[in-house]
Amino acid sequence: MVVAAGNRILVTGALGQIGTELVEALRARFGTDTVVASDVRDLPNHPVVIDGPYRHLSVIDADAFDTVIVEENIGLVYHLAALLSATAEKNPELAERINIGGLVTVLEAARKHHLRVYAPSSIAVFGPDSPNHAPQVAPLNPTTVYGRTKVTGERLAMNYWRQYGVDIRGIRYPGLISYKAPAGGGTTDYAVDIFHAALKDGHYDCFVRADTRLPMMYMDDAIRATISLMDAPAESLGESRAGYNVAGISFTAAELADAVAARVPDFTCDFKPDVRQGYADSWPDSIDDELARQEWGWRAEYDLDALCDAMITGIQLSSI
Ligand code: SER
Repeated sequence: MVVAAGNRILVTGALGQIGTELVEALRARFGTDTVVASDVRDLPNHPVVIDGPYRHLSVIDADAFDTVIVEENIGLVYHLAALLSATAEKNPELAERINIGGLVTVLEAARKHHLRVYAPSSIAVFGPDSPNHAPQVAPLNPTTVYGRTKVTGERLAMNYWRQYGVDIRGIRYPGLISYKAPAGGGTTDYAVDIFHAALKDGHYDCFVRADTRLPMMYMDDAIRATISLMDAPAESLGESRAGYNVAGISFTAAELADAVAARVPDFTCDFKPDVRQGYADSWPDSIDDELARQEWGWRAEYDLDALCDAMITGIQLSSI
């Protein structure tokens, strides 16, 4: 049975780092009741749960997912539920079930119910054989479990677009830096943790080397990119629609520590690489986002100074 697409929005993984802010932005734009948040976690006091419609939902339960789509009259899904790199490496089978199996749940529902879908990819799709300044079209041979699930996700998405006409879009997010909800289980989390540690303890033990350079982005830019990609006319999007490169800021861990030290008197940082160094080393230093600029007008706004100012002010205000 084909059910016509509804007019409400479902966000999976809505209690996570991105979901928390995406739900807030979507509710501000489309009205609180239009945006149904969902997550597998039970966090009854989370603002996303308190402020509007919420469904407890596992993306690997396809029947439950279908029921929510129909009951809530959903027409567009922002599918954010996933395990990040460090967690995925510890639980490869669970990562495949959630990152790939969960996406199949969403794509199948999209095929049946004519949904539009946003499903994020990651800089982790690139592996050591990609150029350090990663082009849009490059060999995708990641060495991490997480990266492999994201490459598979981009390919699955393109299949559903080509075979069934599912309007699916995605962005290869850089490391995302924000303060409203904790990052969890990722390799780029040091770029978030450093701010909290600096303001609380005046010191941070960073789990990658000082010279580690990765593509990063402030969350406001990531949310703007996400919503503007979904706003773009379908005919302007080409063969990279399931995983656009978007660049924000590229800096080393030492440059970040220096920028924090310039704002937090007496801050010190030691560099003590752990297993996550290997994941970081397999990813590019920076990203070429020319295609996203051409096809849907993308341009980042936050540089390192603006990001540091926003993080420090944000953490200080939210702890008052
Ligand atoms: N931020 C993610 C991670 O570190 C990469 O997409 O796992």
